[in-house]
Amino acid sequence: MKTIQITGGTRLRGRVKISGAKNATLAILSAALLANDKIILENVPDISDVRVMIDIIREMGGEISWLDEECLSIKPPSKISNLPSYREVKKLRASNLLLGPLLAKFGIAQIALPGGCNIGIRPMDLHFKGLAGLGAELVIERGCVKGQAKSLRGARIYLDFPSVGATENIMMAASLAKGSTVIENVAKEPEIVDLANFLNSLGAKVRGAGTDVIKIEGVDSLDQGGRYAVIPDRIEAGTFMVAAAATRGDVLLEGVISQHIEPLIAKLREANVEVTEEGDTLRVKVNQELRPIDIKTMPYPGFPTDMQSQMMALLTIVPGTSVLVENIFENRFQIVDELKRMGANIKVEGRMAVIEGVSSLHGTQVKASDLRAGAALIIAALIAEGVTEINNAFYIARGYQKIEQKLSSLGANIRVS
Ligand code: UD1
Repeated sequence: MKTIQITGGTRLRGRVKISGAKNATLAILSAALLANDKIILENVPDISDVRVMIDIIREMGGEISWLDEECLSIKPPSKISNLPSYREVKKLRASNLLLGPLLAKFGIAQIALPGGCNIGIRPMDLHFKGLAGLGAELVIERGCVKGQAKSLRGARIYLDFPSVGATENIMMAASLAKGSTVIENVAKEPEIVDLANFLNSLGAKVRGAGTDVIKIEGVDSLDQGGRYAVIPDRIEAGTFMVAAAATRGDVLLEGVISQHIEPLIAKLREANVEVTEEGDTLRVKVNQELRPIDIKTMPYPGFPTDMQSQMMALLTIVPGTSVLVENIFENRFQIVDELKRMGANIKVEGRMAVIEGVSSLHGTQVKASDLRAGAALIIAALIAEGVTEINNAFYIARGYQKIEQKLSSLGANIRVS
C-alpha cells in the first residue's frame, strides 16, 4: 500500500469489528520463543508489522503458519539456526523484544539496533539495565546489540521510567531466570497484562502485571504450549472512535474492551462526543457542537501517545482553542505541517501544540511520517473538502488491518494503490 486517496465529507455510519492488538501480538510472538511446545495464537491482526516479526522468527528456525485469517500456529525453534538479520530487524522497532527471550532461552542474542517509526530517539538503556541486572552481558558494536548469558538469575530492578518495551523484555527474560525477580515502576499498559497472561499460560509465574510492581518466580522451562487469544487493539478502536466523532457520524465498534479505552472515552465525552458502552461494544455518536479540550499524553492509564495525532486531527475543526502536550515521544508533532497544508491552524512550542479550530479542512497531497500520523491524516482526509492523497501509506499498513475495507463499509470514499 503506497497511497490512499480519500474524498472527504461523508459521515461514518455502521458497525466495525476491531482486530487483535498489534503491540500485544508483537510481544507475544517474541515470548513464544521461550516456549517448548506448539502454540495456537488467536485474534492475530494480519498487518505488516506482525508479518515482519513472523519472518524474523522463521529466519531463526521457528515454524509459523496461518491457520485462518486471524489464527497462527507457532512451533518455537529448539535451537537457533540464524540470529535475526539487519534486513528484517531494521523494519521493526519491536524486534528489540527478542533480546530478553533469546538471552533467557538460548543464552545468546544479536540484534541490529531496531528501526520502526520516526517518532523520537527511543533509547534502550532501560532494557539493557534490566537484562544486565539479571546477569546478561551486553555490548553495542557497529550498530548491533550483542548479548550473552550463561544463566540468568532473579534480581530487584527499578525502572527510571515505566517503559513498555523494557518491562516486557525483563518480564520475559526473568520467566526463565533462576529465583525471583521484582521489577518496580513498570508499565501498566493492557498489553503488559496480556503478555503476562500468555507467559502464565505457558507455565510461567508472573504476578502483579497491571500494577506498579511485577514479581516473577523463574521456572526451568515453559512446557505447556496451548491456545491463547490476543486482546483487541485499543488504538485501532480509538482511531475509529475519533474518525466517527470527527465526521459527526454514528459508529458501533464490536469486540472491544472498553476499560482499556477509558482515558480516550473520558476525553471524547469532555469534547461533547456521545460514547455508550454495552458489553463488548462501544457506540460513538455526535449530536451537538463539539467543545475544545486539553490533553497530556502519559503512560497508561493516562492518555495514550498513540492516540495523540488522531485527536489533533479531530481538534483542528473543533471551534475554540485546544492544547495537546506530548510527554512520551519528542517527534510526534511531525504531522503538524501536513495538517497545516490542509488548512489547520496549529502552533507548536516544544512539547506543546496549540490548536485553533477552523471551520473546515481542504484536501491536498500529504505524507505520513509514522503509523499514527498516517491514521490521523486519514481522519483529516475524511473531514476535508475535496480529495486528499496520503503518500507513504505503508506506515498505515504496519498497524491497521484492512483499513480501506473497514472504512468503506462505514461509508467512506476511499481508494488504495
Ligand atoms: C511501546 C509501543 C508504542 C507506544 C509506546 C508508549 C510497542 C511495540 N510499541 O513502544 O506503540 O507508543 O510503547 O506507549 O509496544 N525509553 C527510554 N529508555 C528505554 C526505553 C524507553 O528512555 O530503554 C523512553 C522512550 O524514549 C520514550 C518512553 O521511554 O520516551 C516510552 O517508551 P516505551 O514505553 O519503551 O515505548 P516502546 O516500548 O518503544
